[in-house]
Formats: sequence, C-alpha cells, structure tokens
Amino acid sequence: MEQSLEKRTIWKKLQEHKTRLEKNDIIDLFNKNPKRFEEFSIHAREFLLDFSKNRLDKKALKDLLELAENCHLRAWMDKMRSGHHINHTEQRAVMHIALRAPADAIMEIEGENVVPEVQAELHKMEQFVKRVHSGKWKGYSGKKITHVINIGIGGSDLGPYLATQSLRPYWLEHVELHFVSNLDGAQLALTLEGMDPETTLFIIASKSFSTLETIYEAQTAREWFLETAQEHDHIRHHFVAISSNTDKANEFGIASENIFKMWDWVGGRYSLWSTIGLSIALAIGMENFRKILAGGHWMDQHFFETDFRHNIPVILALLGIWYRNFFHYDSHAILPYDSLLHLLPSYLQQLDMESNGKQIKRNGATARYATGPIIWGETGSNGQHAFFQFLHQSATIVPADFIASINTHYPLRDHQSLLISNLIAQSEALMKGRNLDDVLENLSPDNPDYDHQQLIARYRTFPGNSPNNTLLIDKLTPFNFGALLAMYEHKVFVQGVIWNINSFDQWGVELGKELASKLQRDILHGLQLEDHDPSTNGLLKHYLSKAKKQ
Ligand code: F6P
Repeated sequence: MEQSLEKRTIWKKLQEHKTRLEKNDIIDLFNKNPKRFEEFSIHAREFLLDFSKNRLDKKALKDLLELAENCHLRAWMDKMRSGHHINHTEQRAVMHIALRAPADAIMEIEGENVVPEVQAELHKMEQFVKRVHSGKWKGYSGKKITHVINIGIGGSDLGPYLATQSLRPYWLEHVELHFVSNLDGAQLALTLEGMDPETTLFIIASKSFSTLETIYEAQTAREWFLETAQEHDHIRHHFVAISSNTDKANEFGIASENIFKMWDWVGGRYSLWSTIGLSIALAIGMENFRKILAGGHWMDQHFFETDFRHNIPVILALLGIWYRNFFHYDSHAILPYDSLLHLLPSYLQQLDMESNGKQIKRNGATARYATGPIIWGETGSNGQHAFFQFLHQSATIVPADFIASINTHYPLRDHQSLLISNLIAQSEALMKGRNLDDVLENLSPDNPDYDHQQLIARYRTFPGNSPNNTLLIDKLTPFNFGALLAMYEHKVFVQGVIWNINSFDQWGVELGKELASKLQRDILHGLQLEDHDPSTNGLLKHYLSKAKKQ
C-alpha cells in the first residue's frame, strides 16, 4: 500500500522549506534574485501568469514539482485522457476534455471513440440555434421565439450563466436570455413577469432530470405556459431539455427530438462545454461557442503537453497545496478585475469546493491533511471597498488570484488603465505591506496633526507577505474565456490527485436532499411528527403555525 502523503519524505522536505521561507519577507526573494519575475512567471499564448509574489523559491518549487511526480500526476493525467474510470465511486470515466476536442480527435471510453457523438450533438445544437435565430422555430401560435429561459442549477446553470455574462460583447441579440435556478418562487415569478408564453422557450437543463429544484421550477413553468396555451401538445414548441435521462424528459412532455444528449462521463460542474452550453450558443452564436471549446482545448494541450515547471494549471495547483497544507491557510480569493467576470467566484466555488471539499481518500481512509480551501471573491475594484481591509490588515492570510484582461471591450476614457493600476497596486501592497518606520518616516512635524498621526501610526502599518498570483489575459474573447475555465478545471484535478481524493463525485449533497424530501412531506401535509431532533421539530412547528395556507 502506498504511504500516506503526510508521511512521505518529500512532504517532510516541504515542511522544512516552509520553516525556512517563512522567516523571509517575499520582497527579500526579489532582492536576492533580480530575475525573479521572469523566472516565476509563465507566458503562454495570450496568458501571462505572474506567480513571483509567493513565499516560494527555486528549491521549494523544485520539491513541490517533485511532490507532483511522487503522486504520479503524469499517470493520472494519462488515465483521464484514456477514459479510465477515475471517478471510482460512481464508476465513471471523466472525459469533459472530449467535449472540446477537435472533430478528428480520438478519445475512447471502453474502446469506443466518443468524439463523433459529441460532434453530432454539436451539430444538432447548431441546427437548433439557427432555427431559433432565424425565426424558423415557431411557437405554438406561429410566432418567433423572443425569450429563452434556462432552468437548471449548479453546473446546469452557473457555467452557462457565467459564460453569457462574461461574453456580453458577443451577444447576437436575436433572443433575450434568462436564467432561473433557485427554488424560491421569487426568481421564477419575476422572470415570468411580463413574458409572453407564445414567444417564450424553456430549456430544462438537468443531467439527471431529477434535481428537485429544476424539476419543480420546470413544472411551474409548464403550468404557467399551459394556462395560456391550453393544449399539452404545444409543449413541444416551447420546452427543450438537456439531459442524460431521456425517459424522464419524455415523461415531462418533451419530445425526443427536442432532447439534447448529455453523458454520464461529464460531471455537472464540468458541463458547460457540452449541450448544457445551448443557452451560451443562443446568446453568442455557435461559431463563438466553438471558440470557447477551442480555447478549452488549447488549455488541455498546454496542460497535457507542457512540462510541469511551465504548466499553468500545475503551478497554480501546487501553490494551492503549498498554502493549504504547509502554511495552513484556509481560503483562497478569486479577484477578477472585470465586471464581466462577476460570476467567476461563484462558478469556481462550485468547481473547486464541490470537487475537492472532501476528506475520504481514494483508498477509503480519512485524510490527515487539509484538502480543498474555501473559495470566495468579488470583482475589483468593488472588493477594495469591502473586504480588502481584511486582506491587508487582519491576522488571517488569504492567498489570492488577481485576474484581468489587458484590452477591454469597453475603452471608455482611461477606465482600463486606472483599473489595472489598482490591480497591480493591490497585488504589490499585499505582498510588501508597510512597516512602522516607513509610516513614521512619512510624517512631517510641520503637519498640524503630527501628534495624532504619531499616535495612530501603528494602525497604518500593513504586515504584507500576503501571497498572490496575477493572471493577465490579452483580451476576454470566447477563446480565452474557454482557456481560463479549463485552466481552473485542471488546477482542481491536479490538487485532487495530490490529495488522493476523487474530485468528480459529490456525495456531500445527498444527506440534505434526503432530509429535505422527508421534511417536505411533513410540511406539505402539515404533519408535526416530532421524529426529528428538538431544533428541527421546533422549526417545523413554528413554520406550520405561521405559514399561510395558499
Ligand atoms: O449539487 C449537486 C449537483 O449534482 C451538481 O453537481 C450539479 O451540477 C447539480 O446538482 C445539478 O444537477 P443536474 O444537472 O442533474 O440537475
């Protein structure tokens, strides 16, 4: 049996590096090595990753790379590419990379090349998108579709929602898109407000077609539609589904030809590249959707073919391990300086935390080391006026990724230069900090407020040494957007390999679902069975006593 991670020699060597490096300020590493920026950054195509502002030197990096080898990363990458059931608890292959592979690629699962069926489904999407855009797809009364509502949750919502928001400059404006995910009535009710059932199309996006939220919302949407349309047969003109559960979608009333296929080898949070991207294609056109796929594929090639030292996802993953396991930092901030990417932190929360928020290892034992961090964040420069105070002066250190595109789609006055100055300044300030001498040196005795300024000098110090990466992308195009998401997917995969956990299942969502379905019965039937714990019984009673009967 393989030795547990924390017992290996390489782990111990890394602990020693940590003890050595925490004695130095990050800025000293620059003073010692004038070429640090060049040596600790990676430039690939339109991506520049600067990872020089980290508590890392060449020796520690060498051993982090050694850790990846020691955990057989290359072999795991090959397993993924060759269709092994690396999602062992669900006995499934993990092949989202096939969704963005070129049409002539060969990617096999159990001896069968899956690329042709992926391409066939892309072709079906293309035909559909053309028909909707051109108005050939008609609603039941013969009118053109003007509004499309994607109903889905988790991976069946976040990816497409993020993509359509991020690529707004590419919108074709043929149809207006809406996303409904949350179970509360408010989101659906507000979306349907003022909408015309004759010109509205619903995409029911659910791989399983059994997710409570999605199916319940879809039923409500169907009720709303039938109130006007009356005839059940009209559903076929207004509801399409994306699912691997064709029977359930049929049962719902969706015609087989209106069901876009999903595969069990695509995890929900890795699915925007699949037919789940239908809403993206409706927003920006199939040509641009294919560019997202091409960008994802480029990142796949970079990941699979570049040596680990110059491999962006591998380096990001190793830095994450470095801080999580050796410095014991609990969270990681995602800071996109681009309001088009405002949903990126939420998207990455699901990608990272649903993938690596686990502690049972592949061999069934409990990990004795920390795994996935808390992912959170917000766009810059908004965050600067909210939680950056915490990043700069609290005792909790949060490693961060600053992300921005160099050239904006909206070149308004000097907005972009000001924005990027802020990003670079924050990254510098977090690393360098400011000591007391520096604050005092900048005080002038001529200042009438001098005494008070001296008194508060300590409050104006910054500990610094907050590690951060900066990712500068030439422009936020569909291609680069695809590459960005694939970059994080591979980062998460590498970390899962090193932590020896399965990043592709999500058993942690099951218990809540089970309990909710029992409570749902109790609430709907007004039962106060008292067979829960006292808090749950108390809440149930209180709710039932106050809730108005509809
Ligand atoms: O949250 C659990 C989960 O299974 C996610 O992994 C998934 O993205 C989401 O629910 C939606 O699942 P489905 O597409 O099957 O409705």
